[in-house]
Amino acid sequence: QQLQMNLEQIEKGGYDHFMLKEIYEQPSVIKDTYRGRLHADKGIVQMAGVEDNLEKFTNANRILIIACGTSWHAGLVAEYVIEEFARIPVEVEYASEFRYRNPIIYPDDVVIAVSQSGETADTLAAIKLAKEKGAFVFGVCNVVGSSISRETHAGAYTHAGPEIGVASTKAFTTQITVLTMIALRLAKAKGTMNNSDYQRYLLELELIPEKVEEALQTNEVAKTIAGIYKDAPNCLYLGRGYNFPVALEGALKLKEISYIHAEGYPAAEMKHGPIALIDEHMPIVVIAPKQNHYDKVVSNIQEIKARSGKIIAVVTKGDTQVRALADHVIEIPDTSEALTPLLTTIPLQLLSYHIAVMRECNVDQPRNLAKSVTVE
Ligand code: AGP
Repeated sequence: QQLQMNLEQIEKGGYDHFMLKEIYEQPSVIKDTYRGRLHADKGIVQMAGVEDNLEKFTNANRILIIACGTSWHAGLVAEYVIEEFARIPVEVEYASEFRYRNPIIYPDDVVIAVSQSGETADTLAAIKLAKEKGAFVFGVCNVVGSSISRETHAGAYTHAGPEIGVASTKAFTTQITVLTMIALRLAKAKGTMNNSDYQRYLLELELIPEKVEEALQTNEVAKTIAGIYKDAPNCLYLGRGYNFPVALEGALKLKEISYIHAEGYPAAEMKHGPIALIDEHMPIVVIAPKQNHYDKVVSNIQEIKARSGKIIAVVTKGDTQVRALADHVIEIPDTSEALTPLLTTIPLQLLSYHIAVMRECNVDQPRNLAKSVTVE
């Protein structure tokens, strides 16, 4: 028993929980994800699985992304990024819905299956179905040699290393990194992005690990905010554009490990229902980086304030406008618009982590949840 405990302590590398360790690993694992694939100085981004099948990707009339949970959220970010960069229509589907509704799949569709474990039963079944219908299926997995990595025609690993915490953290940011590299490669091949933007994105992506490092310095602020809202029964997360999926992911993280009811919404949808929930007791996390329809998000924040909601805003360093309105601000470094999810997601991971610890929840193994859902 004692030996077991000591082993676990060693595995946690000095952190109290695997989740925290994995949150802090993100700068280095994102670097591992793009190592050997991204060469900003040469203007190159390449992954063997994509290069070998480049024509399939560039000729695709549509990309379908299938996944579950956090991986589905990474797929949603990719929808925005791939459509913007490569101008290929993207649909993102829950694997569990896709597999049971006789989906229309054309032979020139490219299906991307995203899965940390590579063992999720619904995603695996959706892949088999897509293959039966003649689609080319590309996997984005973390676990090397997993069922999904074997079942797909080709793929790219995320190289995040083992993720032990049930709540996915580093898998999410490395999935976004791979999917963004795919988008950039396709943009280059299709000529859908001008060269200076392409070059700027490559350089910015290379800087992401050090910016994530900086974003991790929000830990103390996140902890203080956690102390204030740890007993809230509900929480709303709002974001727009690239950061709408981050709002969903932030809410999922809070639900999973702290058992607080949380919902993520596109900020503009607030008016269509959730606004009725807002009063002086409701904490609302608003993701408001300088880009991403900043002015629109600012007006959403004003609407929340008018109803006395408690605003926790994730902003770009140096922001003054949101700071004047929000109850709390968490500052993250500036980056190019499409890469903001890689930074905005960090303080949200830390916030849910600290809330869960303060509520004395089992952070690494939350009740009722399994790391990989291998049954439907
Ligand atoms: C995330 O924190 C989850 N515990 C869960 O939603 C997970 O992302 C989902 O089950 C998909 O798993 P996979 O990536 O291994 O396929």
